[in-house]
Amino acid sequence: MTSNTTISVSDKTSFYNTTKILTIASTGWFGVTTLGLWLFGIYILLFYGKATLENHFERWNNVLPHGYVTGDWLGNLVVGTHVLLASILVIGGPLQFIPSVRRHAPRFHRWLGRLYIITAIIVSTAGLIMVWTRGAVGDTIQHISISIQAVYCIIFALLSFIYAKARQFNKHRVWALRLFMVVNGVWLFRVELMCWLLIHGGPVGFNPKTFSGPFLTALAIFTYAIPVSIGLLELYFYAQRKQRKALSLFVSTLIFLATAIQFVGIAGAMMGMWLPRLAEP
Ligand code: HEM
Repeated sequence: MTSNTTISVSDKTSFYNTTKILTIASTGWFGVTTLGLWLFGIYILLFYGKATLENHFERWNNVLPHGYVTGDWLGNLVVGTHVLLASILVIGGPLQFIPSVRRHAPRFHRWLGRLYIITAIIVSTAGLIMVWTRGAVGDTIQHISISIQAVYCIIFALLSFIYAKARQFNKHRVWALRLFMVVNGVWLFRVELMCWLLIHGGPVGFNPKTFSGPFLTALAIFTYAIPVSIGLLELYFYAQRKQRKALSLFVSTLIFLATAIQFVGIAGAMMGMWLPRLAEP
């Protein structure tokens, strides 16, 4: 009896420690991701929102080579819809996963969830139209990779909605998290690129003029087409289910590493991308 009790107490302790390390890792990752997404969202609103409100659509072209084309009102509408609605995704996404928001404002969670899902579908479809009609920076592999990501966004958005409607909330949570990961792919691509540039002190493994090369090919494939972020999420789910200490430690280490890369990349994106663009006249 005594020994049983001892075993069960130590089992419990190990269970809590295992859960704790995963919780610390995922909470840290979520905090850094939220910070980076919100900074990206503020940049979108201040740069594209301001230019649009002031009727200076041509300013989009300071960043987007195929942004505003005089006379092509339909194409411009697609670009404007894409970049402006993107702010709903990057600002609203993290709010959906904050437990206290879900607990204290369930109607807001449902309302924002519907908006997020519809927006993800519209932004992804607009992105597909932009890549294949207007063209985009980068090469064909990058264009195919981001197009595959658009398809993931649409399918995951629908599945997340279907399971919420069916009140199968475990499945809804899983698909909503997968959706969050793929929707954030465009942000992650920028952040990882900036981390790479900071570490190497300049462009290595790609040509900045053509925006192509082995590094960008690998980055596009493993961020968009075969997203490593989804792999990490699935490992996290697996470790949560299994409750094995070594596995939890391993997955937590990977999550810490991803968080560190993101943290450096966010600082790089702020200094090298978002702030300089906002400072332009
Ligand atoms: C679903 C989440 C997405 C978000 C939040 C998002 C956000 C953005 C933002 C903010 C920009 C402006 C770029 C900047 O100022 O740095 C942009 C540009 C662009 N996006 Fe997206 N996007 C998303 C998905 C997609 C997808 C799935 C595609 C393609 C299938 C796509 C294609 C493009 C293209 C072509 C541009 C113009 C950049 C260029 O010319 O290369 N986006 N996006």
